Amino acid sequence: MSEFRKVGAGEAWKSKFPEHVVVATTVDKKGRPNAITLGWMMPTSNQPPMLAISVGLTRYSHQLLEECGEFVVAFPDESAEDQMLFCGSKSGRDFDDKLKACGWETEEAEIVAPPLLKNCVANFECKVAGTLLTGDHTIFAGEIVSAHISKKSQDRLYNFGSGVFKSISSEI
Ligand SMILES: Cc1cc2nc3c(=O)[nH]c(=O)nc-3n(C[C@H](O)[C@H](O)[C@H](O)COP(=O)(O)O)c2cc1C
Repeated sequence: MSEFRKVGAGEAWKSKFPEHVVVATTVDKKGRPNAITLGWMMPTSNQPPMLAISVGLTRYSHQLLEECGEFVVAFPDESAEDQMLFCGSKSGRDFDDKLKACGWETEEAEIVAPPLLKNCVANFECKVAGTLLTGDHTIFAGEIVSAHISKKSQDRLYNFGSGVFKSISSEI
């Protein structure tokens, strides 16, 4: 008798929670910023420091990542939940400035054109170093060219599934 029950991949994926939440910023050709909420991000290299994000082919951010070749990955804290949900449900195609539309304050990055996001535990400035098409998403590997940690935000937001987002420390 097997310990396991065979299910579709979608059903098995429900066991992945809690999953971290990140937000990646990009800019268009005129320098206007956009932001996309992502669950699919991972560190990939220590030397040089690198990470990878997986972005759906239909996302506006996919187009901007191909155009500008730079992005910032930010780890939002609990106070940024509403803005994170906005960036994860509305497309930048429908706004002049998606970050202004949801009231998410930014700071200029040190090296890349996309901005840093406030109310985030950390921000990583990245330059696209390579891409890999994986089904309906593209993996963008980014070399981290500058990194910043917050002087005030401590607890990053996690996705607990079923629309529940909170920090781990608020659980303990
Ligand atoms: C919690 C959460 C996680 C998400 N993770 C991803 C992801 O890993 N990759 C992706 O392409 N879209 C992901 N999305 C969906 C995009 O954030 C969403 O389609 C967004 O509106 C795209 O914005 P854009 O068209 O301005 O790029 C996620 C959304 C949420 C709410």
